[in-house]
Amino acid sequence: MTSIVRYSRAAIRFHWSTAVLVVVVGTLGLLHDSWPKATQSFWINIHALCGLALWVLLMARFWWRTRQAPPPLPPEAGELSRALARPVHLLMYALLFVIPVLGIVTFIWHGRVFDFGLFKVDFGVQKNRAIFAPTEDVHGYLAYALFTVAGLHALAALWHQFVRRDRMLSRMWPAGR
Ligand code: HEM
Ligand code: HEM
Repeated sequence: MTSIVRYSRAAIRFHWSTAVLVVVVGTLGLLHDSWPKATQSFWINIHALCGLALWVLLMARFWWRTRQAPPPLPPEAGELSRALARPVHLLMYALLFVIPVLGIVTFIWHGRVFDFGLFKVDFGVQKNRAIFAPTEDVHGYLAYALFTVAGLHALAALWHQFVRRDRMLSRMWPAGR
């Protein structure tokens, strides 16, 4: 069996921190209506700060990705995987870029203030339902789209690894380097 070429250590770290942050931020987002009124602003602020961290991480990854191309797919990878990998990865990057932008607009035009603990950032914007209601809806729909695509992507990785046995997941797996 030929040896596989893995993603770089930095790309693997980025991938798994992104995945964990998407689960944390997504779960906090889904729960936003369930918090008691008294703590709702607190949790929406936590959701926003973790979402911002995810966005900054994504920008760093974009910058790095333009300098370092991903390793070539293993020779065992089929035609469909070769055709789908790039557009699906690009779609996830696009969603990860746009969702926080809409989140930021929703947050600010809801009249909310970013509370970083040591300091606050207040844009002094008046609450404006005509702006925040549609951006909140689209932010939510795109987040559901991301959960669906990322879920299918994770299932595909598991199928490759354990059914097709073409070691696709090993390329991105942190252990055994
Ligand atoms: C990829 C990152 C993010 C994901 C996956 C995500 C996901 C979600 C989800 C699922 C909801 C609930 C939508 C609904 O129930 O219709 C939500 C709501 C919301 N998100 Fe995000 N979000 C992200 C980033 C951000 C960022 C960076 C901000 C702001 C800086 C933000 C601000 C908000 C706000 C303000 C709401 C509405 C809560 C409210 O005011 O009632 N999100 N988000
Ligand atoms: C929210 C969760 C996730 C997101 C947003 C995500 C996103 C991505 C992106 C954007 C890439 C392309 C990396 C690049 O070329 O720059 C990628 C690659 C990859 N992901 Fe994920 N991922 C997630 C979860 C998972 C999970 C849970 C698994 C495994 C069960 C997984 C397995 C892989 C593998 C194996 C690759 C490399 C594919 C290849 O060899 O070309 N991902 N992921």
